[in-house]
Amino acid sequence: MAGRRYRTAIVGTGGIAVAHVQALHGLADRAEVVAVADVDLSRAKTFAERWDVPHAYDGVAELLDTQQLDLVHLCTPPERHAPLALECLRAGVTVLVEKPPTLSLAEMDALVAAERVSAGHVATVFQHRFGSDAFRLRRMAAAAELGRPLVATCSTLWYRDEDYFAAPWRGTWESEGGGPTMGHGIHQFDLLLSVLGPWREVTALAVRQARSTDTEDVSMALVSFDNGAVASVVNSVVSPRQTSALRFDYEHATVEVDHLYGYDDKDWTLTPAPGHDAVLAGWTAAGADVASGHPAQLAAVFDALDRGEAPPVTLADARRTMDFVAALYASAFTGERVRSGQIGPDSPFATRMDGTGAPWKETQRPVTNPA
Ligand SMILES: NC(=O)c1ccc[n+]([C@@H]2O[C@H](COP(=O)([O-])OP(=O)(O)OC[C@H]3O[C@@H](n4cnc5c(N)ncnc54)[C@H](O)[C@@H]3O)[C@@H](O)[C@H]2O)c1
Repeated sequence: MAGRRYRTAIVGTGGIAVAHVQALHGLADRAEVVAVADVDLSRAKTFAERWDVPHAYDGVAELLDTQQLDLVHLCTPPERHAPLALECLRAGVTVLVEKPPTLSLAEMDALVAAERVSAGHVATVFQHRFGSDAFRLRRMAAAAELGRPLVATCSTLWYRDEDYFAAPWRGTWESEGGGPTMGHGIHQFDLLLSVLGPWREVTALAVRQARSTDTEDVSMALVSFDNGAVASVVNSVVSPRQTSALRFDYEHATVEVDHLYGYDDKDWTLTPAPGHDAVLAGWTAAGADVASGHPAQLAAVFDALDRGEAPPVTLADARRTMDFVAALYASAFTGERVRSGQIGPDSPFATRMDGTGAPWKETQRPVTNPA
């Protein structure tokens, strides 16, 4: 059954808004972009002109007052995500918020409470859940075709120079909420968690190696899962040869993906264990090659709205990933092992990802480009 054509608006017309508008144009039979908003009105107007959007506003309040909307895409810096999502929920409008959905677990819980009494929902952009081989892997794992999951590795080794952190909202706990854990590796370990299911415990470290940020620029974690698997996770923005790589070793096969900012089926491989060549049949079975990215997630969002369901990635799903982020920081900064769900509302790590402050808070920032 064909669904409705949804009325959408984009809030925050900077870098990532382009991925949203392009994805929406590619799905023009399912949605129209009726308006954009940005605190920088001239930026909003330039964006509207370039992408053929009829209305531009300087904020969410006027946007919500003036337009009947089905979906608002929140593409602002992270510190504005929760407040703006709450405004949309109060107006009964569904939100698709860029990652990270909030700065903290406390803000996640505020969204959960607001969603409960709103006609709208909140979905988070974690686009790497939505490529076809990620679905294939989850399907084969759920059908026990791969045997037990034993060990996994998840690496986000990226490179961001000092200029990248010149944007005032980047690299601070107050506006970005964290470093590569919160802002970069979150894409990969969200995919890891979507494949391996509930995580149990994390032991981590976070360090500031080279960038003049308030936040970490490298973090590493060891994680155990309810299903018995164990995994290592590395998140870095100081790694000149960049890669985003996940590897899952099941009893019957190794499944790997190696990409940078998006994958398609050719980036994945499956290597059967000796005597288990039969698993290849499931892996190579015919199916559309859908690249991970905003178009794939948006299509899934509209499918859910057509069915009258909460669109993916739901708040409950995103909260599991944010709980992992908070636990990683809590473990790194306290030196303790942290369990899933352990960070309750009274923990300092519930309201700020750095808790009472990163250990390097009072120390000098790393010196870059020494004379
Ligand atoms: N999913 C991905 O792959 C991906 C990639 C890059 C960035 N992101 C995320 O997207 C978000 C935005 O990143 P960006 O690089 O586009 O940032 P950006 O700085 O390029 O753009 C942000 C825009 O939001 C506007 N803005 C700020 N406050 C606002 C408000 N209250 N109301 C309306 N507009 C407001 C700014 O003026 C700016 O134009 C971040 O959360 C980032 O982590 C996601």
